Amino acid sequence: MVVIRNIKEQDLKKIRSLVKECYPLGFHTLYTYWVISYYFSSLTFVLEDEGTIVGFISGIMSVDKPATAFIWQIGLKSSYRNKGYAQALIDKFVTSAQSLGASKVQFTIDPENTASLKAFHKYANKRGFKIEKKGILRLKDKFSEKEEILISIKPHIFPHGEIGPGKP
Ligand SMILES: CC(C)(COP(=O)(O)OP(=O)(O)OC[C@H]1O[C@@H](n2cnc3c(N)ncnc32)[C@H](O)[C@@H]1OP(=O)(O)O)[C@@H](O)C(=O)NCCC(=O)NCCS
Repeated sequence: MVVIRNIKEQDLKKIRSLVKECYPLGFHTLYTYWVISYYFSSLTFVLEDEGTIVGFISGIMSVDKPATAFIWQIGLKSSYRNKGYAQALIDKFVTSAQSLGASKVQFTIDPENTASLKAFHKYANKRGFKIEKKGILRLKDKFSEKEEILISIKPHIFPHGEIGPGKP
């Protein structure tokens, strides 16, 4: 059975293995994932199928930007893509962020990551939420260069009913 549940500390190595398979997600240290599990477990969820972690979504509530939650990473094992699980993970994050007081959910996406762009637009459209581009993020130093679109979803109403595999 496939379930979505909050992260536990014992998930960390399995999450890193999953993230490693989820290009273009950044592959961070075990310590980074520990920080997420220890301080941000209310906004970090795994998708688990019979004990195997096959999906992950993680983010934080901003303490500087009013009522704003930020999705840091989302990834699915390739055999679980295009089946509605991304929609279920995003919905879990958004409803949890709302219950923590968020009225905005923001994230950044590589402009060439069509699957991710489509997944988030599909989610917002299904829910009737406003989705807008806030700007372009450009980060560059001598080690790396990155350009991402900053996007915001405003979940103005509480959703009714579940969203996900086999559900509208
Ligand atoms: C992003 C991710 C979680 C989305 O999961 P998913 O199950 O593919 O999402 P959905 O099925 O809800 O939506 C994806 C949409 O993109 C489409 N799509 C997938 N790959 C595509 C591609 N290469 N080109 C164009 N469209 C593509 C799908 O057909 C689907 O659209 P549709 O429902 O209109 O047919 C998943 O692709 C993933 O884990 N990617 C690797 C990690 C990643 O990129 N994370 C996001 C970083 S911002």
